[in-house]
Amino acid sequence: MNNFHILLGSFFFISVVQLEEAPERRWNGKGTTPNLQSIVLGRCYDYIETVNPLVGKKNCSEIWEAFLKAFVGKDPCTVLPEHYELFINLTLHDIPASKSLFWENNKQLVHRYSDKTSRYMPLGDTLAGWIADNLDWCGALGNPGLEDSSCPTTAECENNPQEAFWRIASVTYAKHSSGEIKIMLNGSTPGGAFPVPSFLADYEIPNFQRGQVSNISILVMDEMDGPDIDSCGKNSIAVLEGILASRNFSFKCYDNYRPVRLLQCVDFPDNPECSTGNLGSAHLWISIMLPLLAVIVH
Ligand SMILES: *[C@@H]1O[C@H](CO)[C@@H](O)[C@H](O)[C@H]1NC(C)=O
Ligand SMILES: *[C@@H]1O[C@H](CO)[C@@H](O)[C@H](O)[C@H]1NC(C)=O
Ligand SMILES: *[C@@H]1O[C@H](CO)[C@@H](O)[C@H](O)[C@H]1NC(C)=O
Ligand SMILES: *[C@@H]1O[C@H](CO)[C@@H](O)[C@H](O)[C@H]1NC(C)=O
Ligand SMILES: *[C@@H]1O[C@H](CO)[C@@H](O)[C@H](O)[C@H]1NC(C)=O
Repeated sequence: MNNFHILLGSFFFISVVQLEEAPERRWNGKGTTPNLQSIVLGRCYDYIETVNPLVGKKNCSEIWEAFLKAFVGKDPCTVLPEHYELFINLTLHDIPASKSLFWENNKQLVHRYSDKTSRYMPLGDTLAGWIADNLDWCGALGNPGLEDSSCPTTAECENNPQEAFWRIASVTYAKHSSGEIKIMLNGSTPGGAFPVPSFLADYEIPNFQRGQVSNISILVMDEMDGPDIDSCGKNSIAVLEGILASRNFSFKCYDNYRPVRLLQCVDFPDNPECSTGNLGSAHLWISIMLPLLAVIVH
C-alpha cells in the first residue's frame, strides 16, 4: 500500500466517524434525556424512600420496565395513553384529600408552594409525575434502544410517547383527587390564565369526580412585576368558572391569593404589596395622631 492509499483510507475513516457523530435530527423535540434509566430508577427510589415514604412498597425495577415497554421499539407517533396503563397501576398511590393542586403556566410557583408533598401534592409531586418531570424520551420502530437525537413534538404528532404519558397521568391524577381542589393559574399569561386546549381543560377538569370533590378554589396569581391580564370573573377565568358551574361544582376564585402572594414576596421584599412595614407604621401613626387630634379639637 502506498502513502496515497493510507491517506485515502484515513480520509474515509474520518468521514464515517463524523457521519456517526452527527445523526440526522428527524423531529423537532429534544431526544431522550441521557441516562434515562438511571434517572427514572433514582427518582423512583428517592420518592419512595425519602420524599413520600407513605406510598409504601413499590418495585422500581418493575416500574422502569413498564415505563420502557410503553414506547420502546415503537414508531414514536403511535404511542397511546393506555400503553402506560401498567406503569400507572404500579405507581398508583393515594392522593390525600384536599392536597390536589392543578395548574397551568406557573410550574415553579406551584412547586415552591407544594414543597415536595409537604404542603400540597400536584401531579409533579406524585410518584408518576416525579419520575417523569422535565424528562424527554422516545424510541423508534424496530429499535430496541432509546432515540437520543430527537423526539416528536405534539405539533408533529399527537400520539407521541410524552404526550401519551402526561395524558394518562393527568386523567389518573384528576380521578383520584378529592376534598377541596385548588387550581393555580397565571394571571400574567398573554393568552389568558385558563388556556384551552390544555391538560387542565381537556384531561383534568372533565375527570373531577363530583361525589369526591367538595369544592374548588381558583387562585389567579399575577407575576409580582408582571401585567394583570386575567382576574376572577373576567376573560378566560370567567370561561373556567362557567365550566365548573355547569358541572355543579361549588367554587370560589381568589385574585392573588394571600398565602401564595407571600411566597412570591420572598423575591420582591421591597414591593409595596409585600411590605407590611408600611401598613404597620400607618397604624402606629393613626394610633398616636388620633388621640392628639382629639385633644386639639377639644
Ligand atoms: C421487582 O421487579 C423485577 C422486574 O420485574 C423482578 O425481577 C424482581 O424480582 C422484583 N423484586 C421484588 C422484590 O419483587
Ligand atoms: C390496571 O388496573 C386496572 C384496575 O385495577 C385493571 O383493570 C387493569 O387490567 C390493570 N392494567 C394493567 C395493564 O395491569
Ligand atoms: C407567568 O406568565 C408569565 C408570562 O408568560 C411568565 O413570564 C412567568 O414566568 C409565569 N410565571 C410562572 C411562575 O411561571
Ligand atoms: C371546601 O371543602 C373543604 C373540605 O371538604 C371544607 O373543609 C371547606 O369548608 C369547604 N369550603 C367551602 C368554602 O365550602
Ligand atoms: C346540575 O344541577 C342542576 C339542578 O340541580 C341539574 O338540573 C343538572 O342536571 C346538574 N348538572 C349536572 C352536570 O350534574
